[in-house]
Amino acid sequence: MKSWNHSDRIVAPSVLAADFSRIAEECSRAITAGADWLHLDVMDGHFVDNISFGPAMVEAIHATNDIFLDVHLMITRPNHYLSRFIEAGADLISIHVETETDHDITPSLTAIREAGCKTGLALNPATPLKTAEPFLEQIDLLLIMTVVPGFGGQAFMPEMMPKVEEAVRLREKHSLSFHIEVDGGVDPQTASTAAAAGANVFVAGSSTFKAPDIKHAIRAIREA
Ligand code: DX5
Ligand code: ZN
Repeated sequence: MKSWNHSDRIVAPSVLAADFSRIAEECSRAITAGADWLHLDVMDGHFVDNISFGPAMVEAIHATNDIFLDVHLMITRPNHYLSRFIEAGADLISIHVETETDHDITPSLTAIREAGCKTGLALNPATPLKTAEPFLEQIDLLLIMTVVPGFGGQAFMPEMMPKVEEAVRLREKHSLSFHIEVDGGVDPQTASTAAAAGANVFVAGSSTFKAPDIKHAIRAIREA
């Protein structure tokens, strides 16, 4: 599979905004339109106030195409479920750093890496970057939430941009190479704000799957 570095612009449509009754066609539609990755939002009704889907959906999507699957776990016991998402075909798994996820970060990241997946660490808007700092050497991607997670279609929080800028500074200071992903309310306009701050992976649900022209939407986000 192609590999990417943090100077690449990566557009990852979030399947949460797709029509679940036609999921295979929806994924193909995004891939044909130029998606680099697909972003899969897993929600358990505990860590966030919504329930989306689990490993069976990841497996179904994986069975229909070979695009890179960026799995975002918004669940309270990620370590307990990691192997199921790995077996289902995840290429990258992001776990949340917040303590209410009820797990130890380093063993979870190690388990993800040892299974051959890329590792991601996600931060809620209220969580300061310093919470993630001890783990930066262990990750391939830092996911900076630009909405409070749980639902698609919310407004982008530009006040998260200092966190993105600080992440860029820390990455340089420690000579690291993790991607910086923004997730929530991303469209061509807000992607431009996030790119200026230093983000290179753009998760976009509503602004891609619900756009009148998905190909145009993905291109506009990549070129923002
Ligand atoms: C929010 C999810 C996002 C969401 C983004 O909890 O993590 O990935 O699907 O949706 P939009 O792009 O509609 O804000
Ligand atoms: Zn997400």
